[in-house]
Amino acid sequence: MPHFFLRYSFCSPRWFLRAFATQRPWQAIGQVVLLGMLIGLASCGPSAKTEDKTAATTAAKLAATTSTAKKPDWWKETIVYQLYPRSFQDSNGDGVGDLKGITSRLDYLQRLGVGTVWLNPIYASPNDDNGYDISDYRQIMPEFGTIADFDALLAGMHQRGLKLVMDLVVNHSSDEHAWFKAARSSRTSPYRDYYYWWPAEKGTPPARYSTFDVKKNAWQYDSLTKSYYLHYFSKKQPDLNWNNPKLRQEVYRIMRFWADKGIDGFRMDAFQFVAKDPSFPPMAGLNEQNFANAYNHGPHLHDYLKELNREVLSKYNLMTVAEGAGRNPQEAMLFVDPARKELDMTYHFEGVGVGSGADTYKLNDLKQVFTKWDRAFAQKGWQAIDLGNHDQPRMVSKFGDDRPAFRAASAKLLNTFLLTMRGTPYCYNGDELGMTNSKFAGIADYRDVAARNGYALVQQQGGDIPAFMHGLARFGRDNSRTPFQWNGTANAGFTTGTPWLSVNPNYVAINEAAQAKDSSSVLNHFRRATALRQQRNVLVYGQYTLLDAANPHIWAYTRTLGGERVLVVLNFSSEPRRWAVPAELKPTGEPWLNNYPTLAPGPALALQPWQAVVLLLQ
Ligand code: NOJ
Repeated sequence: MPHFFLRYSFCSPRWFLRAFATQRPWQAIGQVVLLGMLIGLASCGPSAKTEDKTAATTAAKLAATTSTAKKPDWWKETIVYQLYPRSFQDSNGDGVGDLKGITSRLDYLQRLGVGTVWLNPIYASPNDDNGYDISDYRQIMPEFGTIADFDALLAGMHQRGLKLVMDLVVNHSSDEHAWFKAARSSRTSPYRDYYYWWPAEKGTPPARYSTFDVKKNAWQYDSLTKSYYLHYFSKKQPDLNWNNPKLRQEVYRIMRFWADKGIDGFRMDAFQFVAKDPSFPPMAGLNEQNFANAYNHGPHLHDYLKELNREVLSKYNLMTVAEGAGRNPQEAMLFVDPARKELDMTYHFEGVGVGSGADTYKLNDLKQVFTKWDRAFAQKGWQAIDLGNHDQPRMVSKFGDDRPAFRAASAKLLNTFLLTMRGTPYCYNGDELGMTNSKFAGIADYRDVAARNGYALVQQQGGDIPAFMHGLARFGRDNSRTPFQWNGTANAGFTTGTPWLSVNPNYVAINEAAQAKDSSSVLNHFRRATALRQQRNVLVYGQYTLLDAANPHIWAYTRTLGGERVLVVLNFSSEPRRWAVPAELKPTGEPWLNNYPTLAPGPALALQPWQAVVLLLQ
């Protein structure tokens, strides 16, 4: 199962058709597991014991180097908060979140204990794909504000010790970008080669598939110059031609523009797809179900990254994180091996992909994926840790239990996982409150291009609409894009106007104002967890060791750094469970973190549903 589908599972109507009509969900899961096993086998290394010892020493050395010889890499020790600007806080009543709104909430962000904010795209855009279609890389989307608002936001963040990471979307631009307008105007335009074209006289272009396109076709015919242009995403997102050095220089100038303003990093969108062979030869493994895998890691990708590093990154203190880079840990390492001088970290799609397309998931699949990726990065390189983002359903609805009796405990457990795992935690806005998937009455309530075009395709093909809608309700991207739930007043305090996407009706019970007052809330647990992570290097650098790997309900692991060792035990189930602490591990003192008021003592931990505890070991 290609990562692209795991990541964009809902974006592919084909996937829905396959998973829900011609194939049963459990067969789809089987493929995910099989792929995981194959990759796992391929990455088999030394025996677990030797590996543990080496990893522990490496972790200790890493931390020692970072604390003495050189300044630690701030991006390893920070906690990233992903903020979806469109839905965070509206300041002018137009129903759309904006920069002034974010600025008005900076004290809230600071109190969360996060160190870095990643903003989804805020640049000028016609919003075919909510800002991932940029028409001017140096302007702010008017709905979001102005450059002056941006400067005020950045200054306010820096005053509070918060860093700012921007989305860099340069696999494609908008078709309304001046470059594309010029490029499409004539075959001899100096901007023509900023994009990929296939002249109609050469016949139908070689098959390429698109994820958001209603016909799945990545080639769009443009009558003006009798040519097709390439778009891996929607037809309003033409792909930029990275083979053209002029285009690459444009991108570096854009990066310098924002770096000179003082931003702290870039999240690199769809970067694994930027490299393409402009002759469009037949592609190994390319088919309608599996195209994203075939697109990944094209020719010269790493040459481009090395150039980008030389030209821009090496001159600033910028952090970079690449989305979905690499089809497996070995490929991902090529992006972030420090010796290669490319990027800092990557996040993989396999974790969020577990259980995609199915009504349930298996904890052991999740453990296996995270453990495999951790092992691959134990000696060098660095990764992001996440369970949700703006392309995924709410993490508590997918990996926890969002029924009222278990929502809070399971949201706290998932946050405990994110904040006690090795790698930089990426916490998606609203997950600190345990926000859940929303309720949408029908397709007209969805705003996402993937949902709408997916629906149109299923309709055209006479597919199973109820099955598609069932999948959308569970996995649709709008689930995690609903407005932030600030309080119990109209529209959850997000806007005084009509919100661009309807507010989740559960805001009356689940909101920031109520949770701020309640010391046992998901929010206050999140704050305790961020504080703990920031105080304890063992949670940042410590070696991760999985315990009781086959247990289908409990995820238990230790983190070890030098002489310090911590035990994390997570009951991933809505039932009480007992878990016997291995004899050689001796917990000491009160838990560092516990999402219940007590922990029953004894050699076997008596865990409540979704209980999550962090214990120091002797
Ligand atoms: C990945 C982004 O996360 C997603 O939201 C977007 O639709 C695609 N890239 C295209 O830019």
